[in-house]
Amino acid sequence: MKIARFSQLGFILAAAGSAVGLGNIWKFPYIAGEYGGGAFVLVYLVTVLVIGFSVMIAEMLIGYKGRLDGVGSFEKLSPAGKSGWKYAGFMGFTGLLILTFYSVVIGWIFHYVVVALSTLPSSVSEAEQSFHQLLSAGIGTQLFYHTLAFMAITSIVVRGIKGGIEKINMKLMPILILIVTGMFFYALSLDAFSKAWEFMFVPEWSKIDSEAIVVAVGHAFFTLSLGMGAILTYSASLPRETNLTRVSLIVIALDTGIALLAGLLLFTFLFEYGAGPAQGPGLVFISLPAVFYEMGILGTVLALLFFIALAFAGLTSAVSLLEPMVQYLIDRSNFTRFKATLSAGLFFYIVGIVSILANSSEFSQQLTFGSRNFFDWMDFITASVLLPVGGLAMAIFVGYVMPKTQVQAALKGSMNDRGFALWYAAIRYIAPAALLIVMLNLLGME
Ligand code: PFF
Repeated sequence: MKIARFSQLGFILAAAGSAVGLGNIWKFPYIAGEYGGGAFVLVYLVTVLVIGFSVMIAEMLIGYKGRLDGVGSFEKLSPAGKSGWKYAGFMGFTGLLILTFYSVVIGWIFHYVVVALSTLPSSVSEAEQSFHQLLSAGIGTQLFYHTLAFMAITSIVVRGIKGGIEKINMKLMPILILIVTGMFFYALSLDAFSKAWEFMFVPEWSKIDSEAIVVAVGHAFFTLSLGMGAILTYSASLPRETNLTRVSLIVIALDTGIALLAGLLLFTFLFEYGAGPAQGPGLVFISLPAVFYEMGILGTVLALLFFIALAFAGLTSAVSLLEPMVQYLIDRSNFTRFKATLSAGLFFYIVGIVSILANSSEFSQQLTFGSRNFFDWMDFITASVLLPVGGLAMAIFVGYVMPKTQVQAALKGSMNDRGFALWYAAIRYIAPAALLIVMLNLLGME
């Protein structure tokens, strides 16, 4: 199967577009808030650099050398007698499961773009009420915006790597970076910035426990889009001579940079207007709109820019969640791109509707199983179980299944001997051990 290749910059922006998503702007600030700030941020940063970086190179390497969809690439690189490893490529299905709630959240963001344009809630309690109203009684509204998200995502993916994914990332990523840095500079001029800085970067070790560490490690995976074949599938279209170390470092720097800037600017706004940092998932949908209201006309502009940036971040990640399955259907089942996009798209669209219903007061009872509803189960199973399992499979495949000589040869242009020795130790010992601990702990937390 011949695939149109990314340009070098196109790949970097597409991979960064995949990594920078709702995880950076919506999730990272609120979990940093919930787990006490500085110490949590430090654990997250160390994980991103040590484990995230080494697994990202491994995932890129599988796609870069395999040149096929996940299943095909694993199969092609498996030594004789170990072709069963091709089943690891089915991790691409995780993306569809993530999309079943990710698309719904993108829908909420679309709704908040409209809210920013019309009337922002005038207090936190009003904001809280309207957010809960949207979730519990706004089935029609959510369905409308989920449909819009489905149309936006599929209409990009159907145009392929070059004409769809690369093109959209080349446009949206620079705008997103510009908006976030612009808002950051505004935050820098406010008094509360130093408080936000202190909150994010001065660790208070007493606030951190094993749960916080586990969440930080799990989030490092989610935010870097590792463990489900998105980076793998994109890497199959990398230009031939690519320095994987350099490319991963740039992607990680962009992802981490945006998360930190988003965290700093959000907390500055919240502290400036007296709102607390530990608001949970409603942080950007409840506290923030109320803060924007307080800022008057400038707040309306900032709210609009903020939700547009968030929508862009969500969309560029969503296309990378769909592409692995689409590529699989094209490569392995001889689907046309149109048929592949439509069938994979309809899957997440329809199951996404179940996620919407699960949050509504009318159907939540039927769609709650044990401790969580359908929406939360999808989030938990994918982020806490499937992504770490996928990451573990990649680390073991590259560290133990592929012959060392082949791996070293593949990375010749990307690192020197010393770098290789360090990376190889990380992928064989540190990453699998950390991932196993995280998975066991998360399951134990249930
Ligand atoms: N990295 C995205 C975020 O931070 O929102 C989410 C994501 C995209 C996870 C693609 C996994 C993936 F393969």
